[in-house]
Amino acid sequence: MKIFLDTANIEEIRKGIEWGIVDGVTTNPTLISKEAYRGSFLDIVKEILKTVPGPVSLEVTSLDSENMVREAIELSKLGENAVIKVPLTVEGLKTIKRLSEMGIKTNATLVFSANQGLLAAKAGATYVSPFVGRLDDIGEEGMNLVSDLKTIFSNYNFKTEIIVASVRHPIHVYQAALIGAHIVTMPFNVLEKMVQHPKTDEGIKKFLDDWKKVKV
Ligand code: E4P
Repeated sequence: MKIFLDTANIEEIRKGIEWGIVDGVTTNPTLISKEAYRGSFLDIVKEILKTVPGPVSLEVTSLDSENMVREAIELSKLGENAVIKVPLTVEGLKTIKRLSEMGIKTNATLVFSANQGLLAAKAGATYVSPFVGRLDDIGEEGMNLVSDLKTIFSNYNFKTEIIVASVRHPIHVYQAALIGAHIVTMPFNVLEKMVQHPKTDEGIKKFLDDWKKVKV
């Protein structure tokens, strides 16, 4: 399973890459807005693109296909690893189809139903992002959508990869891995929590205390 960081914070991205387990990054307008004090949108994304040795999703903000495609072409020129994030609307589907014909990678975002995911795959999306946390928020079992998409994509041999998104805690990651999702994109704090276990800390302390009794 690939791990992406869901952040536009360059320090978190650098740290995750240094840990050796980050394969890519996803951003969205909200995440970019948190870094706005650092400079322009272009300054922020150029730095992320050159730092990450893998796909970086950058979201378009237009609502009509013509302007989405125009934005996507500009964003894709910023780096070979740029992936264009497109919301799952009719205009978004048209955009995904056009971009896939142009060889530009896409990430269908704000996906909340299996039918939306199916349409994204048919349009040629490289990735589809089911938002599990936001489904949980409204009393649905978000992870069921991931299972459904996995089955549907495998039924029809779609090459589209599932990025489990809107991840809130390590249990989401564990559940996604059991389902066999291709990728999970997570905030940095979820990645940190995945490493931690009190029994590991307790074990290290005991080993080091005992080691003091050994002549070296
Ligand atoms: C996906 O790529 C989105 O950036 C993200 O996962 C949204 O998560 P949120 O629901 O925590 O905002």
